[in-house]
Amino acid sequence: MDRYVVIGNPVSHSKSPLIHSLFAEQTGQAIEYTTLLAESGHFNETAQAFFAGGGKGANVTVPFKQDAHALARRLTPEAQTAGAVNTLYMDGDVLCGHNTDGPGLVRDVLFNHQGTLAGKHILILGAGGATRGILQPFLAQQPATITIANRTVSKAEILAEGFRPLAENIGLRGCGFDDLAGATFDWVFNATSASLQGEMPALPGTIVGTQTWCYDLMYSSDITPFCRWAQLAGAAKAIDGLGMLVEQAAESFEVWRGIRPETAGVLARLRQA
Ligand code: ATR
Repeated sequence: MDRYVVIGNPVSHSKSPLIHSLFAEQTGQAIEYTTLLAESGHFNETAQAFFAGGGKGANVTVPFKQDAHALARRLTPEAQTAGAVNTLYMDGDVLCGHNTDGPGLVRDVLFNHQGTLAGKHILILGAGGATRGILQPFLAQQPATITIANRTVSKAEILAEGFRPLAENIGLRGCGFDDLAGATFDWVFNATSASLQGEMPALPGTIVGTQTWCYDLMYSSDITPFCRWAQLAGAAKAIDGLGMLVEQAAESFEVWRGIRPETAGVLARLRQA
């Protein structure tokens, strides 16, 4: 049976084995998909040993996406612009790195939620790896503006500057949270890792109006702090990252198996779980 893993630390909580086993069942593919814990500082040995032992493909999660980017000998354009890899596969004897996080998020927004990014005013909170991974797929949707707001303002400014060549006719800027006062956005995406610590960045309430859709890239079994904040602020929608998780998995599955699984039923199953 072809073997796949998700490598992370911690990783035992990962929903990826369940998601991929549902995809495999649905598409009639005989695969085994498990979690693989890598000790801190030992990502390379862990990944290399897995592939040397005949492993077919790996997902990579926190905190190893940059290590996977460095390890892959060939990168897809998505992985190059994201500066991070969440999907590894072999092409002959060459280890290749791809990133399905950004495309997965866009698919969730457009197809599962019937949302639009084209022509919209988008706010992204955070200027770390998650934001870097979604900027190019967002810019490709031709929004009117993208504002990146971050606790450390200089990181938001540097990220905006770096992606400006891809932002023809799109207003792209970086700023701090305080600079947002008075502005209201069509979309607010939380790409900070604040939720992991159960925290919320201090945000001006004006960024959310009754038409605003809020989306947390994080997912947890309880409502995330950001989604709770969005509901209290009166947002039209507060969406968590479960759909993104399933869609990025579907993109990875297609890279490995050449078949795109259907995601709606899997998402519904996970919501019940
Ligand atoms: P990831 O790969 O998940 O994006 P990261 O690269 O470490 O992780 O980036 C984490 C992001 O969350 C950063 O934008 C960070 O802000 P700083 O650049 O100022 O550190 C943001 N972040 C983390 N905890 C936060 C908190 N409690 N409040 C606001 N922003 C937070």
